[in-house]
Amino acid sequence: HPDSSRIAVFGAGYIGLVAGACFAELGHQVAIRDIQSERIRLLKAGDVPIYEPGLGDMLARNKDRLTYTLDAAEAVAGADVAYICVDTPPTPSGDADLSRVWAVLASLTGATHLRAVVVKSTVPVGTGARIRRALDDSGLAHVAYASNPEFTAEGRALEDFMRPDRIVVGADNPAAARLVRSLHHGIPGPVETMDVASAEMVKMAANALLATKISFTNEIAALCEATGADITHVTRAIGQDHRLGPHFMNAGLGYGGSCFPKDSRALRALAANTGYSFQLLTAVIEVNELQPRRAVQRLKTALGTLHNRTIALLGMTFKPGTDDMREAPSTVIASRLLAEGATVTCWDPMARPQPDTHPWNLTDRRPTISEALTGADAAILVTEWPDLATTDWAAHRHLMNNHTPVLYDGRNHLDPATLHTAGYTYISTGRPTPQPQTNTTPSHTPPA
Ligand code: UDX
Repeated sequence: HPDSSRIAVFGAGYIGLVAGACFAELGHQVAIRDIQSERIRLLKAGDVPIYEPGLGDMLARNKDRLTYTLDAAEAVAGADVAYICVDTPPTPSGDADLSRVWAVLASLTGATHLRAVVVKSTVPVGTGARIRRALDDSGLAHVAYASNPEFTAEGRALEDFMRPDRIVVGADNPAAARLVRSLHHGIPGPVETMDVASAEMVKMAANALLATKISFTNEIAALCEATGADITHVTRAIGQDHRLGPHFMNAGLGYGGSCFPKDSRALRALAANTGYSFQLLTAVIEVNELQPRRAVQRLKTALGTLHNRTIALLGMTFKPGTDDMREAPSTVIASRLLAEGATVTCWDPMARPQPDTHPWNLTDRRPTISEALTGADAAILVTEWPDLATTDWAAHRHLMNNHTPVLYDGRNHLDPATLHTAGYTYISTGRPTPQPQTNTTPSHTPPA
């Protein structure tokens, strides 16, 4: 291909593997480097170390354009561009830990052929300027720097990469912007070109605004509970206003995952470091942290106590369609329930096993929904897996340890009337709880 480049991708995680696969699909020659030998071994053997729909097929059909290595020098040998896609986990201060980014940069010193270093990892605003200085100081002053943040959501990452709403490129010179743009040839959609700091800010601000929409919805849902309104009607009608849009207005247990919690805390920390208190974002974070605790409290009220009760958690991943457990609300719910003296069983079709100290290891993971429900006093639907919508709830009720077991729907995934008819005490978020049938004859007729 005339526009094809040689790209070294650093990091074989969710961001790097998706970017690497998509760049190969676009015709580029891609070398993917990771420091975890197990990951590289799996990739070389044709396996995918993470779950992302379609990723395995895309890597397989482009295998002639993809190589995998543990060796940074080998990855950059002959590369035109180095794409940094390593993780930037939070530190105790809320700042991002950039040590993996610096380690990659240190390994580039011999890369004489390199024309640009591009960061896709989410980094605090100002990181690009620091990287520019580091490149200049290590004899790579001729190498351009660009920021190319990713906006892909897990579970639909390939589609988001290949058909994005926009591509954002922040570059320190026009040639670098053109280079990054040319790597995306064949991808439809607008390219927004700007300075590096603005591109870094776009990523953090976009995630913060999406998080704000979710927390705002959760607060309206709490008011719906207090007033008898139904959040699903409210958000559907609000979302038809084209200025607001219908997305990210599902009330429930709040946002989790690798981006929103970390990035909103990082932006708040960035503000605080400049002496500015980002009050709106602080409230967004606080509302989100409240959601799983509030759910456990509402369940406790419904059951009278959680002590010695068995609670089934249905879904563990932070959202359906992924194996990712990072910042999953299920983790907080499990440890809260355990702290209240409950026994916890759980089901998830895909959740990755967690390290030893994780609360999940104190819960009893079962292979099917029915086995998770067997003997439980109540269940919490934590992740809206499609299997839970097609479950025969009337039949499953008899497996449970209670005549009218509590089903707490943390994602408004099920139909209240159906669950009520199936015999559950059904509780959801921001929707009226179906009441037992009573004589509905009005006691008086209001005046016409
Ligand atoms: C997100 C962004 O969408 C993406 O642009 C960014 O690059 C990374 O972070 P992701 O973390 O994969 O992607 O998940 P997303 O589908 O956006 O959901 C985030 C969380 O918000 C999930 O826990 C989800 O359950 C929750 N959510 C989402 C809600 O609680 N309500 C909603 O209405 C939408």
